[in-house]
Order: sequence, then structure tokens, then C-alpha cells
Amino acid sequence: MPKVSLTHAAAALSRRLERLGRVSEERGATTRTFLSPAMRRATALVGAWMRGAGLATRVDRAGNLIGRTRDRRGARTLLMGSHLDTVRDAGRFDGALGVLLPIAALEVLRSRGLELPFAVEVLGFSEEEGVRFPSAYLGSKGYAGLLGRADLRLRDRDGVSVGELLSAGGRRSPPGPAHPRRELIGYLEVHIEQGPVLGELGLATGVVSAIAGQTRARVVFGGRAGHAGTTPMALRRDALAGAAEFVVAAEALARRRPPLVATVGRLTARPGVANVIAGAAELSLDVRHPADARRLAACRRLRDLGRRIARRRGLAFSMDVVQDNATVACSRGLTALLARCVRGRQGRSVALASGAGHDGVIISRLAPIAMLFVRCRGGISHHPDEFVARRDLEAALAVTVDFLARLASRFPR
Ligand code: GLV
Ligand code: MN
Ligand code: MN
Repeated sequence: MPKVSLTHAAAALSRRLERLGRVSEERGATTRTFLSPAMRRATALVGAWMRGAGLATRVDRAGNLIGRTRDRRGARTLLMGSHLDTVRDAGRFDGALGVLLPIAALEVLRSRGLELPFAVEVLGFSEEEGVRFPSAYLGSKGYAGLLGRADLRLRDRDGVSVGELLSAGGRRSPPGPAHPRRELIGYLEVHIEQGPVLGELGLATGVVSAIAGQTRARVVFGGRAGHAGTTPMALRRDALAGAAEFVVAAEALARRRPPLVATVGRLTARPGVANVIAGAAELSLDVRHPADARRLAACRRLRDLGRRIARRRGLAFSMDVVQDNATVACSRGLTALLARCVRGRQGRSVALASGAGHDGVIISRLAPIAMLFVRCRGGISHHPDEFVARRDLEAALAVTVDFLARLASRFPR
């Protein structure tokens, strides 16, 4: 087999990212949500690339794509991966990069005739973004055997529950963990930074020190629907006006307490008609802070504010936490090795905390994790303008190939 150069492999990786970005459930945009037909097409496409790289593939009950080097089961295993689902109208790098880059790295190593003394499992998680259901990480939770009853009860907009979807194959219990802990060496996730720091520093890659904790909640204001023309303002119980006040209060609170961030990304009014006062309003709340105690305090404060707004306006109020993840530290050992590879490539390695959530949050409960961040133009992400330059793809590939080779050298032959 001829040697595949890093430049050639990065060009091929860039073409694959482009191609995968066109697999979508929306015309003219990149959108792939949990277990949708577009996700099945993406899984088939990436599965074919995995098999081309010599991996044996399977799809687990949670819809995760798993590509494994051919070897005996039970061997010591390094996990590498990220998610294949996207937000609505997404870019083409968030998640996809962390699935496709390891495939490219294994292709480079194979062409050099380097056989790894451990198995590698490349993972394309089926759900990380929390778009179809109001909670994220359903794919990695399924892989790690961590889907709980609350996850199975979550419903999408059509009223279909996660449990119903997963039991479609006839099995009612949630899937168990894919591996016992003792088999796992660790998990490496390559991901775009989704922020501007590497760009400001003029660096192609950096290592992640920790992933910030995150709470997501479903907030509902209940009022009374009524005629928009005949109900005097003083007699209204407008649920949407209460929700709007809450949105602005959440923004103001987070602005006063950096680096706290609080986001309402979805707000739905019912019945949702121009000439009817909203009788109910439901919104999504996403709260993050690198310090767990601060995040939890902010959530308590927001609950209080919501109650107060509701009381003053004669509304009902509820706030149900649908996801709560503590801050996760990356493994010191694996991160030190990764930093050495980053320094070998670019002379300097910086450690960044991730404000975004990643599959590593869940996999950290199964294995030590490390993350490599890759510079993205202007720090833009969750947007179709997401972009990683070809030379930065090559740098990330070089670091990953080096990481695998150095890790291999630590194992007895
Ligand atoms: C995932 O992209 C998240 O941080 O919400
Ligand atoms: Mn994302
Ligand atoms: Mn992501």
C-alpha cells in the first residue's frame, strides 16, 4: 500500500466533511437529528468510509455507529469519536470532524504499516445536541449504558418517547455499557474549538483541560387564553408576556455574573395565534458555568425569578430540569501526552476550558478522556459559516497520528 501523506489525507478529510455536510433532513441546510432518515444516511456513508479504512462496523441499539479495528473482542481499546447529529442549520465540522478525523488517522497509520498494539473503536454518536428531545447526549449515554428512566420518558414534539424509539426493535430495557471499564485505555475526542481563543493566539490546535457543567430545563408559564381585541390589558393573564420577562431576566442575571451563560433558545406559545392571548408558553433554558456551585446557584435564582414573575402576573410556573451535568476534568495523563504531540507540531500547547458540551462528558464515566481543539474561523459554530482551514485539518491529523504512535510505544509488543 503506498504511503498516504498527511497533506493528501487532510484533503480527503476535507472532501468527506463537505460530502457529509450535504446529508441533511432540510434542503439547503445541514440538519441531522436523532434517528432521522438523514442520520441513517449519514451513518451508512460514514460506515462505508470506516470499512474502507479496514474497520468492522456495527450500529448499536441507540443508533451509534461503531467502527472497530479487526481484532479479538476484549482487547484493550482506545475510543475515538464524536457525534454525527447536528443542530438545525448547522456547520459541517461540529461533531463530524471528531468522527472522520480518526478514520483518516488510521488510514495514514495503515499506509505506513504501523500496527497498533491495542484496538481502536471509532464512534459516531447518534445524538449529542439535544435537538429532537429536550436533553442531550442520548447517543453516548446509550453507548455507556447510562440511559436512565428519565431519558426514556423524554418526548419529542410529536409525542414519541425515547423509550418507544429504542424498543422498536422489540427490546424494552435500555442498552448496557459497550465495554467493561478495564478494557478501555481512554477516549480521545477531536472537536472544533467553537470559540475564538486559538485564532487569537495564532495556533491551529490546543488541548482541553475541562468541559463546563451544564443544566437544561423545561420552563412553562400557564395563563389564560382569550380574545386579543376584547380583553382589557389589566384583566389578562398572558403566559407569553410572563415568559418574555423571564427570558430577559435570565439574560440580565448571566450578564451580571460572568462567566455564567444562560440561554433561552426556544420559546413556544399556545395556541400560537395572532389574535389570541397566549394561554401557555414553554421555553428551553440552558445554563452553564465552569464552577458547578455557581451554575446550581444561578439555576436556583432563576427558579425564584420565574416564580416571582408568575405570581405578579397571576400565572402558573414550573421549571423541570431535564439535564444536569457537572463539570468534567480531562485526564491528566492522556492530556499530557496530547500536549506533547501538540508541542511537537506547533512548538507550543495551550490548555482551554470548553464552554460547549461534548460526548466526552458522558464517556468520562466509562474511561479517562482527552480532547483536542482545532481552530475554527472567527470562533463561529452552530452556524453554517463554521469553517476549519485545510492546513488546520492537517495539523490536527498530524497531532492525532503522533498521539496514536506515542501511545503505541508505551505498550509492550
Ligand atoms: C453542544 O454543542 C452544546 O454545547 O450544547
Ligand atoms: Mn454542537
Ligand atoms: Mn459538538
